[in-house]
Amino acid sequence: MGQIEFIDLKAQYAAIEGDVQKRMQAIFQSGRFILGPEVEEMEKLLAQYVGSKHGIAVASGTDALLIALMALGIGPGDEVITTPFTFIATVETIVLVGATPVLVDIDPVTYNLDANLLAAAITPRTRAIIPVSLYGQPAQMDEINGIAQQHKLAVIEDAAQSFGATYKGKQSCNLSTIGITSFFPSKPLGCYGDGGAAFTNDDTLATAMREIRVHGQSQRYVHSRIGVGGRMDTLQCAIILAKFPRFAWEVNQRHQLGARYIQLLSQIPGVTPPTILADCTSVFAQFTIRVANRASFVASLTEQGVPTAVHYPIPIHQQPAYTSLVKATTLPHAELAAAQVVSLPMYADMSWEIQDQIVAAVKKAIA
Ligand SMILES: Cc1ncc(COP(=O)(O)O)c(C=O)c1O
Repeated sequence: MGQIEFIDLKAQYAAIEGDVQKRMQAIFQSGRFILGPEVEEMEKLLAQYVGSKHGIAVASGTDALLIALMALGIGPGDEVITTPFTFIATVETIVLVGATPVLVDIDPVTYNLDANLLAAAITPRTRAIIPVSLYGQPAQMDEINGIAQQHKLAVIEDAAQSFGATYKGKQSCNLSTIGITSFFPSKPLGCYGDGGAAFTNDDTLATAMREIRVHGQSQRYVHSRIGVGGRMDTLQCAIILAKFPRFAWEVNQRHQLGARYIQLLSQIPGVTPPTILADCTSVFAQFTIRVANRASFVASLTEQGVPTAVHYPIPIHQQPAYTSLVKATTLPHAELAAAQVVSLPMYADMSWEIQDQIVAAVKKAIA
């Protein structure tokens, strides 16, 4: 068996190399490394793609979450409801603005926040809900938005893993008050370093996020609010511009590879492939399955040359720095998922031959 990579971006780079180099050269020559014209060009292109009025490029997905929370004026004394089964940045940023994360359990089928548990978690202090569209599949946004509307709460979709996915025909990142994403290199739309974006249809929030991104600056050296140094640099925006013409093809590849993985893996007893709900499409930022005995399963795949990763092995309420900072009741589904999930290699340019090799290795590992 040839070398299998967890995420292989070499074929993608080969396809865009000429354009990337041309764009890099142009920026080296213009010297406009900070907020050059490529930044606005990318913002407009991506906002149009997701269908939102505003797109704001920021330094990372983490900064997008932080800036969104700051723009909403969330701070000490406030509560923000989110999921315990996510990358740490979702909860970290709530703590950084001084608010209290309130964790509700996940739906064990989709791994996304269980909207049925939201109502019971709302208190007079609740200000916002942050659903995460985990592994690339949007959360159940109608139910979440409905509850948020009843209680006048903002909803920030953490779409760090789901740029390109849809919910009821609408693009992820344009499903709530603010949608944020990440351009970390391994994401479905990744740059060659750190990058991220926030999307909204609200003019006031868009202005606030734009200012907060540059130290709260409303005019040069006039700081109208507290901000951060959170710009996305011009070179990284140019990488996204070079990758974008291929993105629709890549999303389609991800749909096909995802469906093929699900079909092949569902024939193997002991393996639970992902479930994509009828009203969603997923971009499979991670292709994550469930097995009962993960340690021996992973050991066997490693031995067979198939790399794996665990997203995520420890739920947030059990993270050492967070146990005393979060408000949480019992979260059995998140805890069981953390013990059983394992992600298989997934990238748009994966061949069926490689995928067949991975599936054969899974069959052997589970036996
Ligand atoms: C769910 C989720 N939220 C937030 C982030 C943070 O994004 P970044 O790594 O660009 O800061 C990530 C990315 O790793 C993520 O997966």
